Order: sequence, then C-alpha cells, then structure tokens
Amino acid sequence: MNEKIKTSKTTAARWERTYKTNPVAGLPWEEGAPSDNLIELIESGQVPPGPVLDICTGSGINAIYLAQRGYECHAVDIYPTAISIAGEKAAKAGVACDFNVGDILDLAFPGNFFNLVFDRGCFHNFAPGQRSAFINEVYRVLKPGGLYQLNSLASFHLGCSSYGQFPYD
Ligand SMILES: C[S@@+](CC[C@H](N)C(=O)[O-])C[C@H]1O[C@@H](n2cnc3c(N)ncnc32)[C@H](O)[C@@H]1O
Repeated sequence: MNEKIKTSKTTAARWERTYKTNPVAGLPWEEGAPSDNLIELIESGQVPPGPVLDICTGSGINAIYLAQRGYECHAVDIYPTAISIAGEKAAKAGVACDFNVGDILDLAFPGNFFNLVFDRGCFHNFAPGQRSAFINEVYRVLKPGGLYQLNSLASFHLGCSSYGQFPYD
C-alpha cells in the first residue's frame, strides 16, 4: 500500500518561520475581514446549518465569521501559533470554533462530515504532485452534496511577488 502523502516537516518549518518573522497583521493575505466570496455563499443560503471546515485557517478570520453565522465551526492550520492567535480572536469575538493544528493532507476528521470546506489560500500552496492527495482529503471529509469553496491566488487582489517567499514543496 502506498504511504499517505503528508506535508513535509521542512514545509511546516518554513511556515513557522514565516509567522515568526512577520507580524501577523503584516502578512500579505491578512485582510482583516472575512472573504467576500464566503459572505456571498453563506448569504445565498446554499450551506445548511451544521459542521463547516476552514482549511489553512491562518489567524481564523473566516472561521470566526462562520461561527458568528451560527455554523458548527472547525478549522485547521499546520502552524500552532496561527491556531493560538485564531483561538484568541474567537474568544475576543465571543464565538466558539474548534481550532486544530493539523495537515490538510491528513485531516483528523471523519469522512462525510462537513457541509462546507472553505479554502482561502490553501490549495495553491501545494505542488502538482500533492494536489490529488489534497482533493481526495477534501472530498473524503465532505458530506455528499457538500460544497468546497476555493479562493486561490488568482482571485486575490495582491501582487504575485508577495507570495514568492512562501512554501512550495
Ligand atoms: C495564505 S495563508 C491563508 C490564511 C487564511 N486562510 C486567510 O485567508 O487569511 C496559508 C495558510 O496555510 C497554512 N498551511 C500551509 N500548509 C498547510 C498544510 N499542509 N496544512 C494546513 N495548513 C497549512 C499556513 O500555515 C498559512 O496559515
């Protein structure tokens, strides 16, 4: 049997350095507000109440928005400091969200669980050879008929060069 593809320790360590050497508010993807696309999706009523997952949550802005909208919020990021910051922000906002340190390529959630997997800035971190593993994992945790919203680099109003320094296995 093939070994499951996981994010390498080197990549995880690179993310750690990124967070350690930059103030969170100064990171290029930090918009300080939830994603317009996510707001539009939620307001459209297409996501029924229940469990939702924000992958690569960073400092948790979109997960917190989902919790504020009454969803059972779960979120994952590979870097522990991002998860602590997200937890503190949720506490300040007075909402509960299950923030987890973990690898999107090896999620610790059961199959057929989520109504929505939200992705802003996650998929595009992965090299072509890792993308099937990524999609398989997203597909595994989604309920049949669940939605995956992908917000990738192309949809950001940021210069691509801002991203050149970030991990890419
Ligand atoms: C571009 S940031 C996006 C943060 C957040 N989604 C947002 O829009 O503000 C990418 C995030 O992915 C996380 N990350 C990178 N590789 C990961 C992996 N294999 N599993 C989980 N999180 C990962 C990083 O730690 C970082 O917080």
